[in-house]
Parts: sequence; C-alpha cells; structure tokens
Amino acid sequence: MPGVIGQPLDRIDGTLKVTGRAVYAYEQQVENAAYGVLVTSTIPKGRITAIDTSAAEKSSGVVMVMTHLNAPKLAGLKEQKPSPVTGRVIQAFQDDLVRYANQPVALVVAETLEQALEGAHLVGVKYAVERHAVDLDGRISQAYEPPKAGGQQEPSASNRGDMKSGLAEADQRMREVYRTPFEFHNPMEQHATIAVWDKPDHLTLYDSTQGVFSDRERVGHVFSMPSESIHVISPFIGGGFGSKGPVWSHVVIAAMAAKQLSRPVRLEVRRPQMFGPVGMRSQTRQELAIGAKTDGSITALSHDTVCQTSSFDEFVETASLSARRLYTAPNNSTSHLLIKSDIGQPSYTRAPGEAPGTYALEAAMDEMAYQLKMDPIEFRLKNYTDSDPNEKKPWSSKSLRECYRQGAERFGWSNRTAEPRSMRKGNVLVGYGMATSIYPTRRSPANASARLNGDGTLSVDAGTQDIGTGTYTVMTQVAADTFGLPMTSVKFRLGDTDLPKTPVSGGSQAAASTGSAVYLATQALREKLIQMAISDAQSPLSGVSAQDVEIQNGRIFARSNPSKGEALGQLLARSGQPFAEGKAEAKPGSEKERYSMYAFGAQFSEVHVDADLGQIRVARHLGCFAAGRILNAKTARSQLLGGMIWGVGMALLEEGVMDRRLGRYVNNNLAEYHVPVNADIGVIDAFWVDEKDEHVNPLGVKGVGEIGITGATAAIVNAIHHATGKRVRDLPVTLDKLLV
Ligand code: MOS
Repeated sequence: MPGVIGQPLDRIDGTLKVTGRAVYAYEQQVENAAYGVLVTSTIPKGRITAIDTSAAEKSSGVVMVMTHLNAPKLAGLKEQKPSPVTGRVIQAFQDDLVRYANQPVALVVAETLEQALEGAHLVGVKYAVERHAVDLDGRISQAYEPPKAGGQQEPSASNRGDMKSGLAEADQRMREVYRTPFEFHNPMEQHATIAVWDKPDHLTLYDSTQGVFSDRERVGHVFSMPSESIHVISPFIGGGFGSKGPVWSHVVIAAMAAKQLSRPVRLEVRRPQMFGPVGMRSQTRQELAIGAKTDGSITALSHDTVCQTSSFDEFVETASLSARRLYTAPNNSTSHLLIKSDIGQPSYTRAPGEAPGTYALEAAMDEMAYQLKMDPIEFRLKNYTDSDPNEKKPWSSKSLRECYRQGAERFGWSNRTAEPRSMRKGNVLVGYGMATSIYPTRRSPANASARLNGDGTLSVDAGTQDIGTGTYTVMTQVAADTFGLPMTSVKFRLGDTDLPKTPVSGGSQAAASTGSAVYLATQALREKLIQMAISDAQSPLSGVSAQDVEIQNGRIFARSNPSKGEALGQLLARSGQPFAEGKAEAKPGSEKERYSMYAFGAQFSEVHVDADLGQIRVARHLGCFAAGRILNAKTARSQLLGGMIWGVGMALLEEGVMDRRLGRYVNNNLAEYHVPVNADIGVIDAFWVDEKDEHVNPLGVKGVGEIGITGATAAIVNAIHHATGKRVRDLPVTLDKLLV
C-alpha cells in the first residue's frame, strides 16, 4: 500500500522467531547428517609434531578424524595472498603450522554431537612451540603502512595543509593516546554450516552467512569449482555484525569432511572457539592531536591509528577515516599502521573503523572543548563541514546541525553545567556527555524480481540475507508500497543463491542496495502490466495513455476515470501466462563521483557514577540521526538502539583479555566476556530527523545498521569525565580505572 514505507511495522518473521519455528543453519533437517566438532590449537605459534587420533577413532560413534595428515590438499588454498578478493585467507588442515591460538587443528565427526564432543576431547596434539608476538605497544617499531586501508576504498594515509604550522598557529593544543581492546562479535547464533554433496560436483551449504553469493564464490574458489555448482541457503541468521561476512575455515572444513565421508556434515563453531578463528576487532592505539584558536576554530587535527593483523592476512581497523572529513581542519593528517601478530585474523566488526575511531576523535574533541572552555556542541558547530574537505565534494545530504539541535533539546543538554563534578546528586556524580556519529553510505549492484501471480498476489525475490535487521519486512514494505498492495499480499523470499544475485549484508548497504533493486523490479512489473493493458484490445484501458494508468489494490484503472479498469487477474488471465514478471538490477551510478555520501548523528549520554565505589551506570542515552529515508520506523529504531547498546559495551564492558605469555584469550565465553544486558541499560532512545536524499540511491536510503555504534562510546566516556573530572583513555572504562 502506498505509505507503507516508513511505517513501524512488526517483523514479518517475528512470530516464527519467538515461537522457535524459524529454522537456523544448524537446525536444518538433513537426512543422515553426521556431527562435526573442531579441535583447536592451545598454542599461538609453532608446529604440530604429532597428533594422536587413535583414542578418538575408537571412541563410540566416531566416523572420522580429520587433521592436516589426512585432509585433502586443495589447490584453492595454496599460496593465498592477503585479503583475497573472494574473502579472507583460510587455513583448513593444509599444513602443520599453528598461526594463532584456537586455530582449528582437527575435526572429529560422529553420529551424534555428544559422541563428536567426546571424540574431540580424546585427540592428543603435540606441538613444537615457537616464540609468539601478540603485543601492540611494545612493537610499534615493526608497524608498516598497508597499501590501502584494509579492503576499504580509501588510502591508508591522508594529508592536507601542514600539521606543524597548523599546530604552531593554535592557541590551545592537545595530544593524547586512546586505546581500545580486542572486541568480539558474539552473535547469539554461533557460526554453523551443514555441508551436503548432492552430487560429486555439487555442494549445498546451509550456512549462517551475511553473504550467500560471496559464500558461494569463495567456497567455489577454494574447491576449484564454478560457483554455480554451489547452492547456499540461509533463511535466518542470528546476528552477524561482520563476523559472518567472510567465509572462515569451518565452512571449508565441513565441506571437506562431507566430501570425504560422502555424507552430510553439520558443524557449529562452539562459543569458546569463536575467539580467534572467525574474526574480531583488533585492539587499537590511536593518537589524536588538535590545535585550535581561542574562538574555537581548529587549525590542526591529526589522527594516527596503529592496529594488528594476523601473520597471514591483512585487515585494517580504519579508525582514522572520520577525522578526514568530520571537521573543517585546514591542516589535517591521518594514518593507519599495521603490526603483524600471532593472532586470529581481525576483520569487519560493526562499523569497522568508525566505531573505535569516533570514540577517540570525539573524546579528543571533548578534551579540546574543555581546554577552550567552550560548549562541546558549539565547538563542533564552529568547525562544521558543509562539504567534504577530504574529497572536496558536496555532501549528498547532511543534516547533522539538526541532529545536534533536536538531540540536545530532547536530551535537555541546556540543563548541563559545564564544570566537571558540578551535577552531584547525593553520593552520585552525574555527568552529561555528547558526541558525533558518522558512517558512510554505500551500495553495490543488486538484483530482484517481482511476479504478479494469477491469484493477485505478488512474489518478490532477492537472494539477500536477513541478519536480524528486518530485511524480510522492509523489502516487503518496499514492494507493497510500490505496487499498491497490502503487505499480506506480498511474499518476499531471500537467503538463497537460486534467487537473484545481491551483495553481502554488511557495510550498512543491504537496504540501499537490495531495496533499490526490489523497488526497480516492482516498478518494472507495473510498467509491463500497464503496457499489457493499453495494448490489449479487450482491455477497458485499450488505447489509454500510459501516464493515465494507475495500479492499486490489485486493480488497474484510468486515473482520469477510475471506473474504467479491471482486476489485474483478468488482464493476466487473458494473456494466457501464469504470471507476469518484472526484473531489475540496481547499480551504483555516478553519484559516488559527484557526492560524498554519509549518514550522521548526535548522541547524548547521562551517566551516574558512585562517588565512593566508582560504579558507572548509563542512566540515559539518546541518539538523533540523519540517515536518509527510513523504511521501517520500528526495525530502524531497533538497529540504532542495538548499535548504541554495543556502544555501552565498548565504553564499559567489552574486552578480549589476552594472556600475553600464552597468546590466548582468557575470557573466551559469555560469562567473562561481558556484553551489555538489560540491567546495564537505563532509558535509551533513538530518533531521526527527516532527511530527503535524492542522490544516494532510488529509495533515498542511507542505511542504519552501523551508525548507531559510532559516537555512542565517546558520548558515554565524555559523560564520565563530566561526572568525575577523570579522563580514562583506554577502554573499557571500568571502575578500577576511575578509582586510581
Ligand atoms: Mo558489518 S561489520 O559491515 O557486517
């Protein structure tokens, strides 16, 4: 129905999910599937000198133990270059090298999960241990500049003006180092795959993935098979956050085992095994320098990030990118350096780059505002960019001023007294903090098809994934709105490589990319039906001009005389075809050359800190965003809140704690790796300003999957400073750091 876009509709798949009827990868009913359990390395670096699999092989129900000694050698895994275009470098039992702790070294396959677990315990691995290097701070001298900022399109370093003279002409200067720890995605649904070789040269994968097509391409490459010989099915995904973007080793291992056994194999990466083999956010060391005039104008701004990558692949946490364009700063330099380390491969993690980057940048901006004795919003407005100073292009749209204004008003920013520790309530130190959000607007080529069926319903297909964001629902809304049908008459299918090709659900691009394709395909179907009607001598619309024809509620009619028309079903029946179909590909055009495209926002936080105990509570947190057109007010708000809640985790809780002597994470479970729970969140709200962007894509959608986490952490740590007068620059801000 027209107007259905934007409505706060419930998720179409909501009932299926809450009643447990949504079938996730590991739960798919596959006949005769055996259960695989991985054995992972206990050392971070060395060689496997012996693997004793005899006890496991004799154990009840075990059908196979696979290690590097008996695994097939795959040509597609030979000499992989860092950051292959098809994904990440994969290790799958091709050699005896251990490159990081928790690396898969064996797979036990058994009749039941319990038998496979028991078998996995019985595998004995001996190692020749080598000296490992996992540290960041002690090895800055080994850092190198990667050619491009980790798969991103921007160069690693940037420079405009001259930092030195910019700092020299400043009245106030600051330079500080901010640190963020290893952070893990921890989606509710663990990584899982069922591999089925239907034929010797055809593989079906039920996989929990953010990209069915990229999955198919990568696996095809690894097995030296055409990607069309691989069928990936992924109807429901219990969260991804970037971890399920690339294909990791377990997918390939499951397929290898299934092939070897001529039997389907199901493999789930167990929660403790998700700390290393399936990506994480690298820890970062970020150095910020700002110089400003007394009036608040920034004369110099630099942001230099050092992060880690594995010994075998390359990924940059592009934390310095926002500092290139968020403020005018005539003198500006940014850089990214990488340190090769004996760790699992860092990779895309919600708002890769921007999440830790906006933390450091926006905390530094707060520090400078205090030095200048300026209101933090005033300071930002003084240096507001009306065009992108890095790319020297206009913004496609930018409503950040409105976000600051409306956010401040709704939050009650004017009640804040500037002095730290000035808003005490009894023994509770109250602090208000704010920060800016920014995330790029992207899209990739996407296809979709729309069919009008004989019964008047619409079937809309696109291969894309719903990673929990609401894709089923918003795509149905786009089609229903465009075709003038109620939601219940539209059936949208996704999560299958047999459907039209679409990109990865990552980089906040699914709604913009696939949404545009669904919109264009539905439009194409409309136009086809209109042409059919006006050129059909038996149609009441025969000879009417196309501009005068409207389709609404399953009826096609003349706008100038609505009684002149018929049911679409009748038109279709006369054509003798079972259905009419429209197809479309939506591709990025020249907009990227002409405009700099970003979503923005402003976040505000009120924290309460116990004056004696240092215990920190986020009492209130609010975000106001500008992200183009919002397709569904309910699912968009959920995305924004989810990002902001992760910001609370980043600020106060999340840290992959590594025992540097062992090179292992010691808190590889949800009991000790803390993510925010209900009790950690006070009053939280997200809203947005109306923003019409005619440049980004046909729908005007910017995407909301990641913007919520950007700026959230800085707003909280700035509020903690306001409450306590203390600047803690290494995350997370735990109470012990406040008490020293
Ligand atoms: Mo996101 S980290 O692009 O899934």
